[in-house]
Amino acid sequence: MKSKLEDILKNARGLFQEADTEASLNDLKVRFLGKKGELTNVMKGMRDLSAEERPLIGKIVNDIKNEMEELFDARREDIHHASLDRKLREEKIDVTLPGRRSPRGSKHPITLVTEEINEIFSTLGFGVVEGPEIENDYHNFEALNIPKNHPARDMQDTFYVSDDIVLRTHTSPVQIRTMLQHKPPLKVIAPGTVYRRDSDLTHSPMFHQVEGLLVDYKVTFGDLKGTLQAFLNRFFGKKIGVRFRPSFFPFTEPSAEVDIQCVICSGKGCRVCKDTGWLEILGCGMVDPEVFKAVDYDPEVFSGYAFGVGLERLCMLKNGISDLRLFFENDIRFLKQFTN
Ligand code: DAH
Repeated sequence: MKSKLEDILKNARGLFQEADTEASLNDLKVRFLGKKGELTNVMKGMRDLSAEERPLIGKIVNDIKNEMEELFDARREDIHHASLDRKLREEKIDVTLPGRRSPRGSKHPITLVTEEINEIFSTLGFGVVEGPEIENDYHNFEALNIPKNHPARDMQDTFYVSDDIVLRTHTSPVQIRTMLQHKPPLKVIAPGTVYRRDSDLTHSPMFHQVEGLLVDYKVTFGDLKGTLQAFLNRFFGKKIGVRFRPSFFPFTEPSAEVDIQCVICSGKGCRVCKDTGWLEILGCGMVDPEVFKAVDYDPEVFSGYAFGVGLERLCMLKNGISDLRLFFENDIRFLKQFTN
């Protein structure tokens, strides 16, 4: 019996040492020490032993049992450490690797042009103001000397929210809001989004304008010309040929449309200027006395000029962009070419 026990122990030592997972180790524990395990089986034969032999064998069995338990615990520790080591090795983080950069966006070309115009006019002493894109009839039309049923309303295909509420068709209502809030003299520009029911290759239902307004004592058309010339030279980075054509706007009198010498062909004639050498870029004029009356400014005391310019066209001319739709399609390949 003793030699049988020794065989079992020898066998167990080897097997415990070989076990390399916790599951196989547990199986071994059951196989040797479990209720129906090998050691237990041998112990069952003890009742056939003589009274002298029994305590001797009993001690051996106990020793073996203790050793097996120690083997089991030691091996379990080993396996546990080995798996920790493996995990540490596999999940090691190389802190010296460079980080993955997330792509950085750039400002929209219209935003960049707006910022540039704000900057130019700021250096000329203009403040920057804003107004709501959802406007009422009074600010968008009435106070600008465009009464109901006036044919000038046809010039602007309006999106109506209700009878009285519109999506502003131009930034001119910000003139009214500013004058109602502040006493003259004043000197502001108002950049912003405007809306018209118009959509084709050269018109988008949503586009951008900058409005300009100066009110003071003894303002002349010459002041307007000088300011616009200075702005255009700065914006295009060179001396720009400019001409003023008589025109009509209900809120200015006299009114003019401003053409610049084509920046693509320098006035020689090309596809962009339709061989005229000139490009129409903004509307302007001296503030109509009717507008001053609407905001309670005295037209006998004050005079002023105003202008409105479309940003998409300016941006296209400055950057050589030939298709208006590029501004609204949000194609990253287009947008990322503009950085500030
Ligand atoms: N509001 C006009 C438009 O959108 C542009 C304009 C013309 C604005 C003349 C002005 C101006 O301030 O004086 O068509």
